[in-house]
Amino acid sequence: MKPPITGKTLVAGVAGQPIAHSLSPLIHNAWLAAAGIDGVYVAFAPDADRFEVFIDGLRGGAVRGLNVTIPFKEVALSIADIVSERAQKAAAANLLTFEPDGRVTADNTDGVGLLGALAAQAPGFEPSAGPIAVLGAGGAARGAVAALLSAGAPQVRIINRTLAKAEAVAGAVGDGAVACPLNAAGDAFAGVTAVINATSAGLSGQAGLDVPLEATPETAVVMDMVYKPLETAFLAEAKRLGRPTVDGLEMLIRQAAPSFEAFYGAVAPTNVDVRALALEALGQ
Ligand code: ATR
Repeated sequence: MKPPITGKTLVAGVAGQPIAHSLSPLIHNAWLAAAGIDGVYVAFAPDADRFEVFIDGLRGGAVRGLNVTIPFKEVALSIADIVSERAQKAAAANLLTFEPDGRVTADNTDGVGLLGALAAQAPGFEPSAGPIAVLGAGGAARGAVAALLSAGAPQVRIINRTLAKAEAVAGAVGDGAVACPLNAAGDAFAGVTAVINATSAGLSGQAGLDVPLEATPETAVVMDMVYKPLETAFLAEAKRLGRPTVDGLEMLIRQAAPSFEAFYGAVAPTNVDVRALALEALGQ
C-alpha cells in the first residue's frame, strides 16, 4: 500500500520533455517506501522554452530537488547559482537542489552512474588501464568522456559521425581526449579496454550503429547507455562476439542513488530490487 501524503512529505522529482516514460519515479518511490521515508518523487514536463521560469518558481522552496533529463541538462547548468566541479566538467547537470535561501545548486551524477555500472557488471574493468572509446559527441558523450578522464583513463577516443562535434568535445575536456570519425571506428577500437555507446542510435529499436566491434580486443568491455531496449542491437552484437557487456539500466539506477541521498538525506536502500522493478516496467 502507498504510504499517505502528510504535511511533512518531502517532495522531489524529475524534469524532462517528454517525461511520461521515465523510470526515475518508479526507482525513487520504491526506495522511499523501502526506507520508510515520508517522501514522494514526481515527474514534471515543463515547456521546452520555459524551463528557467519553471525553476524560478521552485526557488521558493516547493521541492527539495530535481533530476533533470533531456533536453534540459545544459540549461539546468547555466541557470544554477552554485555548480559542482563534476557538473562543470560534464557541461551538464542532471541534479538540481534548492537551497533554503533560493539559490540553486547543480550537480552531475551521470559519471558516478557510468563508473558504477562498469564496476558492477564488468568487475575486472579499470578505467586507468588503457584507452577507452566513446561513441557520440552530444551531451551524454561529453559527460562520459569527462567522467572517464577524471577516473584516470589515459586516453578517450571520441568517435562521432560529425567529426567537428567530436573535435569540439575533445577540445573542451582538455588533455587525454582525441576525436575520430565514425567511418574510422575500426582503427580507433584497436587496443581499447572499453567501448561506450553514448549516441542516441539504437534508442527504442532504431537502427543501431554500424561499427566493427570485432576490431576491439577480445577482453574489451562494451557498454550501451541506451536502456530501451535493454539489449540494443549494439550489445547483442557485442555478446555475439563474446565481449563482456554493461547495460544502460545499471547506469540509470546508479546515477539515481546519489540523487536520492541529496534529496532525502538517506542512502538508497538495498532491501528492494529496483532493477527487477525497472525490468518489469520495461517488459523484460
Ligand atoms: P545527447 O544530449 O543525448 O547526447 P545529442 O546531443 O542529440 O544527444 O547527441 C546525439 C549523438 O548521437 C550525436 O553524437 C549524434 O551524432 P552527430 O553528432 O553526427 O549528429 C549521434 N547519433 C545519433 N544518431 C546516430 C546515428 N544513426 N548514427 C551515428 N550517430 C548518431
